[in-house]
Amino acid sequence: KNIVILISGRGSNMEAVVRALDAEGWPARIAAVISNKPEAKGLEFARARGIPTAVVANKEFATRAEFDAALQETIDRFDPDLVVLAGFMRILTAPFVEHYAGRMLNIHPSLLPLFPGLGTHQQALDAGEKEHGATVHFVTAELDHGPVVAQARVPVLPGDTEDSLSARVLVEEHKIYPYAVRLFVEDRLSIEHGEVRIRETR
Ligand code: GRF
Repeated sequence: KNIVILISGRGSNMEAVVRALDAEGWPARIAAVISNKPEAKGLEFARARGIPTAVVANKEFATRAEFDAALQETIDRFDPDLVVLAGFMRILTAPFVEHYAGRMLNIHPSLLPLFPGLGTHQQALDAGEKEHGATVHFVTAELDHGPVVAQARVPVLPGDTEDSLSARVLVEEHKIYPYAVRLFVEDRLSIEHGEVRIRETR
């Protein structure tokens, strides 16, 4: 299976997926890592691993539709079976999302449906949540919605700050994202009546 990963910055989730694929020998390859920001740190890791990289800089496009069209063209050059959004900080247009329906995953740092959008860790703190976490889901047109593949929970501890809480969540992101991508490339994920079915192995 060909995987294309989209990033905007640090790329630690991308890195976790790449490392797990290599270590566990999935039936897949990373066809490309693509960023909307030329300065994204994660590009350096990808280049050092010999993974093809590309930049489609959103600020060079007048409209969201034009950017998404250019991005789609670049992604499709790599013939992806799966598109993995890993800290890709762009709102996507409906035609783009539709084009990758059933083959695009995202990770969001909250226990969706709680706290879609930005600033999730502070929102969880402000709401006095006892638990917080992260969610891997298929991407649908509505931001941070879509069928859930995996969730990880962490406790919110006394004295937590946005930094301490996000660090605790990130450790779990680096486990559930590789897990979810592996399920996909092993053909163990399906969507039935809008819900994810996972075929367990034994
Ligand atoms: C992660 O917390 C992810 O859940 C969110 O943005 C952050 C990206 O981090 N969407 P990284 O670029 O993967 O290190």
